[in-house]
Amino acid sequence: MVKTQKTNAEKLTKTPEKKKILFVASEATPFISTGGLAEVVGSLSAALASEGNFDVRVVIPLYSDIKKEFRDKFNYLGNVYVHLAWRNQYCGIFEYVTDKNVTFYFIDNEFYFKRPGCYGYYDDGERFAFFSRSVLEIMPFLNFYPDVMHCHDWQAALSAIYLKTNYCFREEYSYIRALFTIHNIEYQGIYSLDLLNDLFDIHESYKYLVEYNNCINLMKGAIECCERFSTVSPTYAVEIKNEYYAHGLDPIIRKNHFKLCGILNGIDINDYNSELDKHLFANYSAEDFENKKICKSELQKFLNLPVKPETPLIAMVSRLVAHKGLDLVTAVIEELLHDDVQFVVLGTGDGNFENYFRDLAYRYPDKFSANIVFNGDLARKIYSGADIFLMPSKSEPCGLSQMIACRYGTVPIVRETGGLCDSIKPSENGYTFANYNAHDMLYVVRRACGDYKNKTEWAKLMYRAATTDFSWNRSAAQYETLYLKCLNND
Ligand code: GLC
Repeated sequence: MVKTQKTNAEKLTKTPEKKKILFVASEATPFISTGGLAEVVGSLSAALASEGNFDVRVVIPLYSDIKKEFRDKFNYLGNVYVHLAWRNQYCGIFEYVTDKNVTFYFIDNEFYFKRPGCYGYYDDGERFAFFSRSVLEIMPFLNFYPDVMHCHDWQAALSAIYLKTNYCFREEYSYIRALFTIHNIEYQGIYSLDLLNDLFDIHESYKYLVEYNNCINLMKGAIECCERFSTVSPTYAVEIKNEYYAHGLDPIIRKNHFKLCGILNGIDINDYNSELDKHLFANYSAEDFENKKICKSELQKFLNLPVKPETPLIAMVSRLVAHKGLDLVTAVIEELLHDDVQFVVLGTGDGNFENYFRDLAYRYPDKFSANIVFNGDLARKIYSGADIFLMPSKSEPCGLSQMIACRYGTVPIVRETGGLCDSIKPSENGYTFANYNAHDMLYVVRRACGDYKNKTEWAKLMYRAATTDFSWNRSAAQYETLYLKCLNND
């Protein structure tokens, strides 16, 4: 860690009562979302702001996919020019204050962000280097220097790195502490070392901070540079010290373990509320699940499955990628489909899995429904209409879907890994299995389908699932403590 910052005593004389937190992330609900990261940035920032102890602000890029209805409400504050190696680029700054009292800033540069989607371009490294540098460059313009700059995932890693390599020597920046949160260690921001000066504008003397396995590794750099780093469940914080889970980064995690903690994500329980959710076919509460039967029968009709109230309907809402445990599913699903079950899959991803599921739907039209789309409305109809939610991930930093399923009284079956292990407890609010093994999974799925026939016991299980507290209450308090630890350097 580079140590160039002011001491605690110096800081205390300067900082005002309400601590200032700046989230730096590549996506945030409600503006732009490709998955769990956006939900966490959106809902955690709102939860912290509602506690009232912090001034919470968020900065994200102004992608062209951010809907016009939002854009029309943004205020243009002005622009600065951002210097990065030989580049000097326009950076417009837009602002929007949400009804949850969170101030959002949007970084505007059409060359980098006027493109469909958020990621997947040849120059993503340059795009997020520009974004991360802009975060620091807009601070004087806004006259806003956070106490804690909370950076999420590799796209924001360079903000923590630049703070330590270029900015913290200046008085105004010298009080800022950096917290880095890993939402998924699989994506580390790995680039050729050739780009060190020319693209990332990192001086040779700081190469040691970002260099890893003969490449630039931005996640590694942020871990080295931050005061503290965290991940999104206590179990994942332990798992990533192990090479099975760490995608090569375990030596760095172990070296910096004294700075690491795991905090389980929450969900926005007002948004995911079966009593009010307008997307559902019918609304119901944990006290009275009667209308959930309507959600199920309407869903079966919608999916062109036979309307069978007594047949357990198993659901997966997931990115269709290997680490979600799809190889377990493909290994035993035909065995399972010989039972009296129905199965629905929603999601997009790896073409092999997409085609496999399309083919299954073709061969088992009465039992299997493949929905190879990204559709938030249908997702909620499935969460509420299904009986059982399957999430057999090989690794899962936190996972939000199992919590959402619970909220809708749909009983999850999960593998004991990461946040799945921390949120779902066998015979309390769901089913779990330990080994990454297809028949272990099948055994538990069959057990759940058997238990489903016992209406009284199943109703109790649904109730316990639906009333498990997945709100941000507990975890937001843990973040508050973590911010204070960053500030106090303890
Ligand atoms: C990533 C992880 C997921 C987690 C989410 C929010 O998408 O894969 O497990 O829930 O981030 O932290």
